[in-house]
Amino acid sequence: MKTHQFEAIVVGAGGAGLMAALYATKGGAKTAVISKLYPTRSHTGTAQGGIGAALGNLDEDNPLWHAFDTVKGGDYLADQNAAKVLAENAIDAVIELEHMGLPFDRTDEGKISQRRFGGHTSNFGEKPVRRACHAADRTGHMILQTLYQQCIKHNVTFYDEFHVVDMIMNNGKFAGVIALELGTGEFHVFHAKAALFATGGWGRVWNVTSNAHSLTGDGAAVVYRRGIPLQDMEFYQFHPTGIYKMGILITEGVRGEGGVLINGRGERFMEKYAPKIKDLASRDVVSRAIYLEIREGRGVKGKDYVYLDVTPQTVNRYLAEAGESRRIDAETIEKKLPDILDFCRTYLGVDPVKEPMPIQPTAHYAMGGIPTNVDAEVVIDENWTVLPGLYAAGEVACVSCHGANRLGTNSLVDLVVFGRRGGMAMADYVKRADYAPLPASPTAEIEGEMNRIRAGKGKTRPVELRKIMQQVMMDHVSVFREAKGMQQALDTVRELKARYQTDLTIDDKGFQFNTDLLEAWELGALLDMAETTAVSALNRKESRGAHSREDAKERDDVSWMVHTLVSRPAGTPPYPQGSPELQLNTKKKVDLSLAEQDARFVPKVRTY
Ligand code: FUM
Repeated sequence: MKTHQFEAIVVGAGGAGLMAALYATKGGAKTAVISKLYPTRSHTGTAQGGIGAALGNLDEDNPLWHAFDTVKGGDYLADQNAAKVLAENAIDAVIELEHMGLPFDRTDEGKISQRRFGGHTSNFGEKPVRRACHAADRTGHMILQTLYQQCIKHNVTFYDEFHVVDMIMNNGKFAGVIALELGTGEFHVFHAKAALFATGGWGRVWNVTSNAHSLTGDGAAVVYRRGIPLQDMEFYQFHPTGIYKMGILITEGVRGEGGVLINGRGERFMEKYAPKIKDLASRDVVSRAIYLEIREGRGVKGKDYVYLDVTPQTVNRYLAEAGESRRIDAETIEKKLPDILDFCRTYLGVDPVKEPMPIQPTAHYAMGGIPTNVDAEVVIDENWTVLPGLYAAGEVACVSCHGANRLGTNSLVDLVVFGRRGGMAMADYVKRADYAPLPASPTAEIEGEMNRIRAGKGKTRPVELRKIMQQVMMDHVSVFREAKGMQQALDTVRELKARYQTDLTIDDKGFQFNTDLLEAWELGALLDMAETTAVSALNRKESRGAHSREDAKERDDVSWMVHTLVSRPAGTPPYPQGSPELQLNTKKKVDLSLAEQDARFVPKVRTY
């Protein structure tokens, strides 16, 4: 075991982690980033269509309209103070990225180009607005490269391919994290005054997902196992357009450029579900519409997919019908959506310039996660009590600016805005804080767990358990839900947790580059994510945003304008152990500070 000491640790090297590390370092904190991947392989690099900011470069815009869309798109569960911070800080954050050298696409006048995205409107829902700043369909890739270069320039220390598997607490105080070095299998203790978790989401809980294999909920699981509650886990977003069966993301930017959804009868079905805003309704609405079309027999060729059509012929017909003067051609599509064309040509043999793409909803984004305030400080109860020294930002965190459903482009905003605020807050905190002492044997518990997995003599390989979990969560805790199915999913996940404890085996018993061992550990994290998602979903007896119950179809603002907190019973061991009765608390009230001044922010049932 090796021990290191840093004032501030950042776990994860995607957009939020890099922004936090940059600002913590600039603020004078001795900072290290620990990442299980080489930083530029982080999942931020797959974000495609854009980052939202009310720059008003192409259409008149206003951050308050952006905040309104965020609150409305989140089905009024978003904390309104957080949505306001997100929208206001977005403008500065995008300009800062531009000044760092990010190669945004440009308008003819040389301003940052912007495109339409679902749920983004002008003047409180009046009409779609061009708000998404983009670098072709590789916006996340460009953000990641830009921020990594900045971190190198500012001498941030990186521990690449170090997998954080535990957090050290001492008498309720944060004291550090423990990482396993992939190359050697050795444990490293990082003694720190503060840590910010920016480890991303857990789309791998479901079997059709846009998420990379690495998105296994590690950071959320690590803090949850050490007593921190998770917030709003029932709200998991399915992006409407993933490549059929593969789940690979087809950016909403396709619809922003004019692409339309077409069912097996050749109908543009979104006209029926969202007459005003059609294909650019928010994601929960569009994903449900696709499922309903398929369920009612209007999938393409009787199968469980529909078409996304961006061929100039189709798009121009609908633009003309809508009275718009704009037209698109093959050259524009090639220029604005190069990666999408490449994915479809490579993986499907389909050329989107000439023919429609087969798509289905794909598990995409966790609205829930580690509860934080707007400075990325982790809060541990409904009274917003801060746990000093612990921070979270990006998808793993729940600020909650996205409420029950995130708008497209707001994840990239979230990363840079709250990553930056978290980095600054940490730099400030470490100036006045001391190191909490390390306990006598900080790695004892996690070493015991890793040795148990390595030595397991059971009959079941992790992949078998993972596949069962992914299928049951897809069948019962996805776009549509009802109590019986969710209970079945929860029972199954709990059986899998028991088997994980008693019947596991892995092939590689070694220490160097033992990805077999780490994948088994990641499965434990996924099982915790699946269990907390199903428990929280069963508990919420209404439909809101991405949580759509067939047995409780209405939104219930009287009983459910509250966030869910789920935690392990105090005193239970940290690693997946059968099924302790998880503790649920739904008393954390939604912040309605904008509604107190402006009636347009008062919750009302969404229409599009
Ligand atoms: O559709 C997309 O390009 C995805 C963006 C997002 O999730 O924000």
